Amino acid sequence: MSDRKSIVSDPETVRARAMETLFERLESLCEGAIAIDRAGRVVYVNEKYLHSLRLNHVSEAIGRPIEEIIPNSLMRRVAETGEPILLDIMELGGEPLVVTRMPIEDENRNVIGAIGFVLSDHIDNLKPLIARMAQLESDLRLAKRQLSQARTARFTFDDYVGTTSGIARAKELAGRAARQSVTVLLSGETGTGKELLAQAIHNASARADKPFVSVNVAAIPDTLIESEFFGVASGAYTGADRKGRDGKFRTADGGTLFLDEIGEMPLQLQVKLLRVLQEREIEPVGSDKVTKVDVRVIAATNVDLQKRVNEGTFRADLYYRLNVLSIELPPLRDCAGDLPEICARLLDDIIHSGDYLNARLTPSGLAALARYDWPGNVRELRNILERALILSDSGRLTGDDFARILPVGAEARIAAPATAPAGAVVPYAEAEAEFERRTLECALAAANGQISEAAKMLRISRATFYKKLAKFGLAVPDSSSV
Ligand SMILES: Nc1ncnc2c1ncn2[C@@H]1O[C@H](COP(=O)(O)OP(=O)(O)O)[C@@H](O)[C@H]1O
Ligand SMILES: [Mg+2]
Repeated sequence: MSDRKSIVSDPETVRARAMETLFERLESLCEGAIAIDRAGRVVYVNEKYLHSLRLNHVSEAIGRPIEEIIPNSLMRRVAETGEPILLDIMELGGEPLVVTRMPIEDENRNVIGAIGFVLSDHIDNLKPLIARMAQLESDLRLAKRQLSQARTARFTFDDYVGTTSGIARAKELAGRAARQSVTVLLSGETGTGKELLAQAIHNASARADKPFVSVNVAAIPDTLIESEFFGVASGAYTGADRKGRDGKFRTADGGTLFLDEIGEMPLQLQVKLLRVLQEREIEPVGSDKVTKVDVRVIAATNVDLQKRVNEGTFRADLYYRLNVLSIELPPLRDCAGDLPEICARLLDDIIHSGDYLNARLTPSGLAALARYDWPGNVRELRNILERALILSDSGRLTGDDFARILPVGAEARIAAPATAPAGAVVPYAEAEAEFERRTLECALAAANGQISEAAKMLRISRATFYKKLAKFGLAVPDSSSV
């Protein structure tokens, strides 16, 4: 009894014992321990640590600067600042170690050195945590990139390559559009550069340092378009949207709003859009107040809006309002003279994106590209160039390289409209199966029977390709073993 009392009443002894016990415990539990003095020289290292440090004897470490033993050590920093680093992951010889580092103080609390422990040399237990951190970091990067892309325009007129008449005319009109704030209508097939030109107009305009907001009308469900465009007043809904929310017009205030696929806008929304264009005011959902906005609208369409007006699915008054300055973007097949320059720019771009070191288009390659009719225009051209590069070992793209890729798409697309109306009507599943079978055969033929290549062209896995072959009872070609 009295013994215990005397121990408890002697706090200094407890403290001293605690220090020693703690140190001994930590040292025995840990995978390694090392200490330095104020000058960063090793004063202590335990036997256990020697193996990881690739040393044979303690004496090999004592007295040497810590960085000679552990090149990326942070021990010196702890000894200099007196700030502990309680938990860290340090790499040693390519292995991650979980470590803790603490300053050592004298009786007067002056920092005289630092001690580090390796808590664990197998961080399996921490793996879920580390994986989650990596995931969060990558999500954050993606979100930041998307946010900055959604609000900024990166293209300029220099990016719209070409000098043939259609492109020159479009560029000239776009230059005019940039000098004013009028509403612009860009029409052209998919992949002809509508979004590119919209960004270029914005960047060359007085609004360049204000937001460029891009909205694809076809991608928003009809029921959400109104709130997406005009926002929601606070208190209009319960729950998450209770606080209200800005619409795209508000976000784009002062800048440019790009409305892609305007032809898909529901009729009742067309009235509201027309009113904004006329009055320059928006009325958020659930609000009885209108507010001013200053937004230049650039609309784009790949359908014939005049035809939609005639059919009654697009309002004539909105059409005229959008059509103040109308710019027609020519399809690639009408710009044959620009093909070399456009290809050169796209290949340059692809190289700069980092995946390929060199890429060169040979005359036979260019000739093959010129024979194709490019229903997907420059976007499709870019895809074809990238695909050819994936399959090429040298980066020198020849006619053969494209012959392997182009005919599959070309035949399918050119043949489809001619035969479809005349063909017999068959159940959907049958037609689909037939289409699938023909696609597999086409790809196999184009790839000279090589399964991996054919699968690559169709952007499906080898395994999927084999499964589909089996489904249709198609023979596996001999050369497929390559
Ligand atoms: N004349 C051109 N010169 C260079 N690149 C172009 C040209 N036209 C289109 N592109 C490129 O083609 C791709 C598709 O263009 P985009 O503006 O998205 O087409 P759209 O909006 O008409 O579908 C983009 O990568 C764009 O940079
Ligand atoms: Mg587009």
